[in-house]
Amino acid sequence: MPGSGSPSKGLDDVVIDDSSISLVEGDRGWLVYRGFDIAEVVRAARFEEVVYLLSFGELPGAPSLRRLEEALASRRALSPELERVEASLPVTLPPLDALRTLVSAMGSDAPGYPPTFEDGLSLVAGCPTLLARFVRRSRGLAPVPPRSELRHVENFLWMLNGEVPDPRRARALERYFLLLADHGMNASTLALRVAISTQADLVSAAVAALATLKGPAHGGAPFRVSDMLDSVASPQNARPWIADALARGQRLYGFGHRAYRVEDPRAVLLREIAQDVADPPRFALALAVEGAALAALRERKPHVPLYTNVEFYAAVVLEAVGLPRELFTPAFALARTAGWTAHALEQASSNRLIRPDVRYVGPERGRRWPEPVP
Ligand code: ACO
Repeated sequence: MPGSGSPSKGLDDVVIDDSSISLVEGDRGWLVYRGFDIAEVVRAARFEEVVYLLSFGELPGAPSLRRLEEALASRRALSPELERVEASLPVTLPPLDALRTLVSAMGSDAPGYPPTFEDGLSLVAGCPTLLARFVRRSRGLAPVPPRSELRHVENFLWMLNGEVPDPRRARALERYFLLLADHGMNASTLALRVAISTQADLVSAAVAALATLKGPAHGGAPFRVSDMLDSVASPQNARPWIADALARGQRLYGFGHRAYRVEDPRAVLLREIAQDVADPPRFALALAVEGAALAALRERKPHVPLYTNVEFYAAVVLEAVGLPRELFTPAFALARTAGWTAHALEQASSNRLIRPDVRYVGPERGRRWPEPVP
């Protein structure tokens, strides 16, 4: 009988489909893109290569990479209609909300279903321009047009700040993008795949994904990590601050993960990147807060495997790269457009409407509607 089984609240361990894009092995702390361990990806890859890899399963050869870069470059400029929509948004909107609204407005000239890799490139290339343009206007600054000779992540920083970025910082942000490009059946990717399964277009599906990324249980955690570090203020204050926060029932942002029973491999790599680019006192503060948080969580919840997740050191890295806090979750979204594209293509390639069920626990059938009020 439909809807009569025990609910799987949160869909833990529910397998909805086969996927070849990324493997998340929560018990072993593995994240693998199309067979490449994430440590291997973050060591050597370019973001553009990962955009291609996630969708096609192989690395692009030099000619394909060049064509991909040209295709991205040709999609960075905005249409006059989209510029007008951007100009009409109130600058008080949080940048993630602005990005979601502007991506929605991209839909007017986007083709429908099934999605194509070119639709994905429009999303990957368009989002940084939309975000940078909105942020600059909110700062009272003129837009900075993209430069075709700059790589994807450098271009974002260029369009945002109007300066060619320092290579060390640009590479740190690119490595962040590589680490965040995909992550199995996470909440925003599921939302995207549900939308694609209804045969909606990629832009609509990306709006669903962006909406799902917003909450602190998913993409909305890292700016809260920065706020927490500010509030702790000194390594000596880490232990009492954490004890007090937990005593008040507060969740510690940057810790815990649905999939991982061991440390999130992205946290390990981001810690190394943070050590390389962050101001030493900020990094020392982060280490002290992490140590105090892990010790306190182990003591309070010995049976729950709670470790540092991707967002903790992501915050430290994004601060060091010079991004303001309100751009942390949007930066996550820019990186994840690579994975969203791949998942949209995969979903459409053997599509079946994703339509789960709920167990009905409301009143029994048979209630009578009262006579209409005269
Ligand atoms: N701080 C304190 N306690 C925690 C934390 C935390 N960060 N995370 C989990 N717990 C505790 C819960 O209170 C719960 O305890 P209980 O069983 O005694 O009630 C237990 O651990 C299990 O928690 P759930 O909420 O059931 O775990 P779930 O898998 O649903 O949550 C989540 C995962 C949402 C990430 C959670 O760990 C959390 O809220 N973390 C803080 C926010 C955060 O860092 N978000 C970013 C996640 S990474 C990403 O999505 C990109």
